Amino acid sequence: MASSFGAAQVLVASNRGPVSYDVREDGSLRARRGGGGLVSGLSAIGPDAGALWVCSALSDGDREAVRRGVGEDGVRMLDVPADVHADAYNGIANSVLWFVHHMLYQTPLEPVFDAEFRRQWASYEAYNRAFAEALAEEAAQGAAVVVQDYHLTLVPGMLRSLRPDLRIGHFSHTPWAPPEYFRMLPDDIADQVLRGMLGADRLGFLTHRWAQAFTACCERFAGGLGDTRIGVHGLGADADFLRARSHEADVEERIVALREEIGTAPDGGARRTIVRVDRTELSKNIVRGLLAYRQLLEDHPEWRERVVHVAFAYPSRQDLAVYRDYTAEVRRVAEEINERYGTPGWRPVVLHVKDDFARSLAAYRLADVALVNPIRDGMNLVAKEVPVVSDAGCALVLSREAGAHEELGEDAITVNPYDVVETAHALHEALTMGAGERADRGKRLAAAATALPPAQWFLGQLDALRDETPG
Ligand code: G6P
Repeated sequence: MASSFGAAQVLVASNRGPVSYDVREDGSLRARRGGGGLVSGLSAIGPDAGALWVCSALSDGDREAVRRGVGEDGVRMLDVPADVHADAYNGIANSVLWFVHHMLYQTPLEPVFDAEFRRQWASYEAYNRAFAEALAEEAAQGAAVVVQDYHLTLVPGMLRSLRPDLRIGHFSHTPWAPPEYFRMLPDDIADQVLRGMLGADRLGFLTHRWAQAFTACCERFAGGLGDTRIGVHGLGADADFLRARSHEADVEERIVALREEIGTAPDGGARRTIVRVDRTELSKNIVRGLLAYRQLLEDHPEWRERVVHVAFAYPSRQDLAVYRDYTAEVRRVAEEINERYGTPGWRPVVLHVKDDFARSLAAYRLADVALVNPIRDGMNLVAKEVPVVSDAGCALVLSREAGAHEELGEDAITVNPYDVVETAHALHEALTMGAGERADRGKRLAAAATALPPAQWFLGQLDALRDETPG
């Protein structure tokens, strides 16, 4: 047990933190702040609340910042050895736990839990221990700690034994695998994951479906939930931020550029746009989205020259070969469609692969239809953001496997993400929806999407956790 307590009253722990550093050519460090639900959540509790964010040093710049003792108030970066981090993050978190929860494995080749996996698992444990120890050191007596995501499933249990006085929460931003899929993990590993999570007083999930899957895994493999409570907090879009940000000058500039790329229909009218914005992530199902669009052009040749698929697929987890291959496949299929159907005045797919948030917002504003077709997704915030930002109200084609479907299903056009023929029909239906219906549905979608803005989402978890008696 720690001999003295730290000062932080509210702690967040996550792999990726709110700030990252680049080393400039002259050797100085440039800080870049990230966005997202946790950033707004923590800022909502105010700078004097004694909040601390414990995260990983991920880039060379981050490690340099730790070495030089440079940092921001309220953020502690852990410089875990790079090879340990790589094993824990790439090897276990992103190649095993992410794959299990998104049910991404493809037999007969995957998964193989071999000696290399065991070695990487030891790094995952060490990585989780580094977080647990830092949190134990920094937390004030009785403080609330909210641990984030599948990178840190062992932390609640480890922290519980170091600091029984703390109120410990864990929040999963991913789906949770059903027992029949979860059980493919080696028994002792599955047991460690569940017991690690059950070290928390309270576990948060994005939807009832994921919470139920977790509960079912505990009932089957861990003798139940014990004293741990479960809560569902469906993170919503940040309407105020998005509406203001999407009307700034850089977004307006990108709208002009994007309109240029989209071009006009042969009759001089505006072309319709089907927009998608994703990390180039296997679970996002970008390739099947392209195939559905190709099917639309086959089934409904009347759309040729009159529609453009604006697809932004931003780089993600490029250390993993399977992600690099997927990126290449996305490009290949997009090019194939452009070669097969394109004309001198019409590029059917406008694909961008370089991350640009202002351009994403520009695409949201121009969207007639948003295509969100993941094969499995914890929530999917794009589905919630586009209806809020779209100028004319957009129709949403939404996979039934996205967490967001639980809240948006009624006004979206629902698809089975594997069924590209059905998705093509859905795109046609979305494109032909009358302007009035589209605007009405768009309004209802935007209202549902913003029901729980990030600050309230975070504060709700914190309040619920503080109401718990420490275990
Ligand atoms: C998902 C995970 C997050 C993760 C994000 C980006 O949303 O739930 O924990 O940060 O993807 O992935 P990355 O590997 O780049 O952090």
